[in-house]
Amino acid sequence: MITYHSASAADTEAFARDFAARLRPNDVLAFRGGLGVGKTTFVRGLAQGLGDGSEVSSPTFAIVHEYSCTPRLCHFDMYRIASLDDLYSTGFFDYLETGAILAIEWSEQIEDALPPDVITVYLRRDGEDGRQIIISGGRFE
Ligand SMILES: Nc1ncnc2c1ncn2[C@@H]1O[C@H](COP(=O)(O)OP(=O)(O)O)[C@@H](O)[C@H]1O
Ligand SMILES: [Mg+2]
Repeated sequence: MITYHSASAADTEAFARDFAARLRPNDVLAFRGGLGVGKTTFVRGLAQGLGDGSEVSSPTFAIVHEYSCTPRLCHFDMYRIASLDDLYSTGFFDYLETGAILAIEWSEQIEDALPPDVITVYLRRDGEDGRQIIISGGRFE
């Protein structure tokens, strides 16, 4: 397990940028934590760490954004996913084991579909700008 106390959005982004170096192709990152805890901010750092400097925003309406880094990063927002049919339509299952790293916001929505070696990134608010980041599961268990 990895725990980190972030003091600001920039801090979370920098932490994620460094953490990206520990990821491998096919890793699935399941984010947990409510609105505004910093999930998208974390993914922005991941994309930078993996070498994609493009803009990272919440894929709320598109459901998935892909970043052309190595490995490829696929960023999902499952907020509106309510059924297995919905999930199939996102292409989620087609992205698994393609070599891409999957980063999934609102992973609580697809709990039963997550692989057994999923890496959970739990963010918890600690004051206005503080965040507790807890990474567990898979080889971070
Ligand atoms: N320590 C922190 N880490 C991440 N975001 C923070 C932090 N402190 C304040 N923030 C702010 O919280 C918001 C997080 O937004 P976002 O990353 O989109 O969250 P989520 O995707 O979880 O809804 C941003 O406005 C960001 O500036
Ligand atoms: Mg978000």
